[in-house]
Amino acid sequence: MFKQIKMISQTIVHSIRKSFKISRPVPTQVVITEPVPVPTQVVITEPVPEPTQVVITEPVPEPTQVVTLKPEPEPDPVVTLEPEPEPDPVVTLEPVPVPVPDPVVTLKPEPVPVPDPVVGSAPEKLNPLTLSDHVFRYKPCDADTLVRWKYADKNDIRQLIAMIRPLYLFSECSKRCIRTYDLYKDDIPRIILKIRKRPQLNIDTSDINLNDTTSMYRMLYRLKEMIGIFHVKNFIVRVEHAFDNSQIRSEYCVVHQLIKHANYDGTQGIDSEHHVVVPVCVQLNNLEKIPESERTLFHHISYSIQPFVWKSQTLDTWLRIEKPCNETLATVCGQLAQALVYLHTYNIVHGDIKPANTLVRISPAAEPVLYLIDYGMSGIHDASEGTGGTKPFCAPETGNGCTKAMLESDTYHWTKNKKENDVWSVGIMFFTILLFGKCFFYQKDYPPDFFDPNTGRITPSYFNQISDEPMRDLFRRTLCPADERITAVDLLRLINTDR
Ligand SMILES: Nc1ncnc2c1ncn2[C@@H]1O[C@H](COP(=O)(O)OP(=O)(O)O)[C@@H](O)[C@H]1O
Ligand SMILES: [Mg+2]
Repeated sequence: MFKQIKMISQTIVHSIRKSFKISRPVPTQVVITEPVPVPTQVVITEPVPEPTQVVITEPVPEPTQVVTLKPEPEPDPVVTLEPEPEPDPVVTLEPVPVPVPDPVVTLKPEPVPVPDPVVGSAPEKLNPLTLSDHVFRYKPCDADTLVRWKYADKNDIRQLIAMIRPLYLFSECSKRCIRTYDLYKDDIPRIILKIRKRPQLNIDTSDINLNDTTSMYRMLYRLKEMIGIFHVKNFIVRVEHAFDNSQIRSEYCVVHQLIKHANYDGTQGIDSEHHVVVPVCVQLNNLEKIPESERTLFHHISYSIQPFVWKSQTLDTWLRIEKPCNETLATVCGQLAQALVYLHTYNIVHGDIKPANTLVRISPAAEPVLYLIDYGMSGIHDASEGTGGTKPFCAPETGNGCTKAMLESDTYHWTKNKKENDVWSVGIMFFTILLFGKCFFYQKDYPPDFFDPNTGRITPSYFNQISDEPMRDLFRRTLCPADERITAVDLLRLINTDR
């Protein structure tokens, strides 16, 4: 049954994931420019039960207790149920801010408490996979925790991990939201109705009144505040809830594979040798492991943490601003190919190669350095399933390429993840950069005769526009049927030979 749910959720999640929009201030160095097509027929069917009713009597663990990243003890089974505070009696259809769950903590610039003893201690070897079976329960943090966080070493990921829970995902401390879900006012009622149609989930929603507009808004805004991508100090924190954590599952899969096969010890994050940025901490809460009685929307979060890449821009922004020469383009293309070689060596398929999933770090004195990010669609070659990317960058064999049928369709096909799909995506990105100086973010933006409308293959005459013969050959061998396509290793070799 869960497999079924998972399959539905994969489709849904791709839809939700690709419909993210910026709804809060974006950090200045992060420029999101890419409008991403949304498969509109896919609807949210993820179960979302009622918010906080369970209040744990045990005290919030001190940050230092969590820092070791070892599995935490089983939660105290004793819980007390307290009625949720009555919603504001004033019913309004206007968006209202979510009430702060418990006494508002105010930070006064008063005596700074002794910093957590972990700060400044010798770095421990971290195990980034803090997969634990226990359930996260919300308990608002106290002022001490907040002050400790405020004065923590901003590079110390242990501090971040230690505090993420008591800080209730930083709702009361400084964070910038990079992405949040695009939620609408009737989403919560719709989701609850779907839960009611799925009795196998055993989520009791009987006391939720769908006509109670205020409580619907409360749920909506709490969800909005909580899940998304946040920039916190030197880190990017991705947060999903247990009913919809497929992106963090994918990240988990990648990190797990790298630890198992590539000696990734979970401390590096920004890997300049292989041109990837991967999470240094993945905390996954499986729906299956959450007791049915406790499956609520706001308690069960999954999160991943990765280092923030300062002074970086996504490839498309960098192209617009820097207008790089072909030599520099070949350098960053080679770096992307290097990232693919690394991942493919361990059978990891990125699954969503596109400009928005790259970061180019610039420095006045040195060459730009590209990093591949976002493993939310990643999987294992020939094993897991995916879409092969975002439509304008999808290989024809995924069924999501640029055919006439796809131009008219909002749906995505799901097929086995393949390394070949990634190679196509890299090829199409740099082919259009070379020919047109940019990437296209909608299929309809390509020149009308660019693709064969039936096969999704590129019209041969476009290759002839590249005068450099080895370069032309490289793209011909990349943007061709999957069984003839070169591997990432060959792609990297050809790029290096051509330069
Ligand atoms: N490690 C990072 N450092 C700096 N910016 C980042 C980092 N990771 C993500 N971002 C920014 O956040 C955006 C969204 O991140 P991404 O992982 O692609 O999530 P999504 O699932 O929303 O596509 C990226 O396009 C980039 O601008
Ligand atoms: Mg992305």
